[in-house]
Amino acid sequence: MPETSSLIARLREEGLAAIAAARNESDLLDAKGRFFGKKGAVSGILKGVAGLPVEERKAVGERANRVRGELESAFDSRLAEIREKERVAREGRDRLDVTLPGRGPIPGHRHPVSQTMSDIISVFRRLGFSVQGGPDVEKDYYNFEALNFPPEHPARDMQDTFYVESAGGDLVLRTHTSPIQIRTMERMKPPVRIIAPGTVYRSDSDITHSPMFHQVEGLAVDRNITMADLKGLLTEFCRMTFGPGKPLRFRPSYFPFTEPSAEVDIQCVICGGSGCRVCKESGWLEILGAGMVDPSVFGFVGYDAEEYTGFAFGMGVERIAMLRHGISDIRLFFDNDIRFLSQF
Ligand code: PHE
Repeated sequence: MPETSSLIARLREEGLAAIAAARNESDLLDAKGRFFGKKGAVSGILKGVAGLPVEERKAVGERANRVRGELESAFDSRLAEIREKERVAREGRDRLDVTLPGRGPIPGHRHPVSQTMSDIISVFRRLGFSVQGGPDVEKDYYNFEALNFPPEHPARDMQDTFYVESAGGDLVLRTHTSPIQIRTMERMKPPVRIIAPGTVYRSDSDITHSPMFHQVEGLAVDRNITMADLKGLLTEFCRMTFGPGKPLRFRPSYFPFTEPSAEVDIQCVICGGSGCRVCKESGWLEILGAGMVDPSVFGFVGYDAEEYTGFAFGMGVERIAMLRHGISDIRLFFDNDIRFLSQF
């Protein structure tokens, strides 16, 4: 009897300690199994009560039952504790903080070259010009011949291009938007006031030249059109695009399809005219070529050169975007680096 009661006392201590030490439900079930489950030590003692001497049965049975009860309730409260702890941990993990600011989709925007292109187009629309288009893969006839570049003329070298292998060998990636002048005049009779935006290609690559770039062509044909109209229009275009007080310079130049021809420069906005890498130390940046339509071009489209005169111009969109935003390398437009593009 004394051994049995000290055994029960020891099982009580050990059982309570194991329950207290349990970190999770499986530790706890383990303790139950060892001490008071069906095959546990305390249950073993209860099963053996029947074999004890009569006078001991009652005391041992009562004691073992009490200990089993104690262990059961210790088990229940530890189980509740463990479950509560797990619930708190889980809720901390899954907590939804409804006061956090929302995470919306990051909206994209148009490429700076496209933005500049549409701004140029809307300036000319306001000045009474309509918009025309033409193919990127162009016939030699429209890109060169009808613009008065004879087949072996050295002026073709100014616009060295990519020839497309084709049946007749007469297709090129257009080197400028000027072919749209011819296509338009074939389609309509004067008066003509159009612009033609588009992508153009040349084998040319440095910080101010890209093998693929964009132009906006302009053409006006009517009675009594003079160079003064051209200068007035371009001066107004610059005022509307860059704001007032940006000096513009007309320089004599040569194009086979205009006579006289000019190149128009705007004061370099990178250096303010003092000279830098971008303007090649000249203080000026060429933004367009222009001139009075050569009468021989009218010959190709059946316009009467005695009755009509006209002017044409072709501007580089990237150049204008560079000037507006102070960008010093044209290649940045085509690197597709989001750190660059997201600034516009
Ligand atoms: N097409 C010429 C070029 O790309 C520019 C130009 C257009 C010049 C119209 C005169 C008239 O260089």
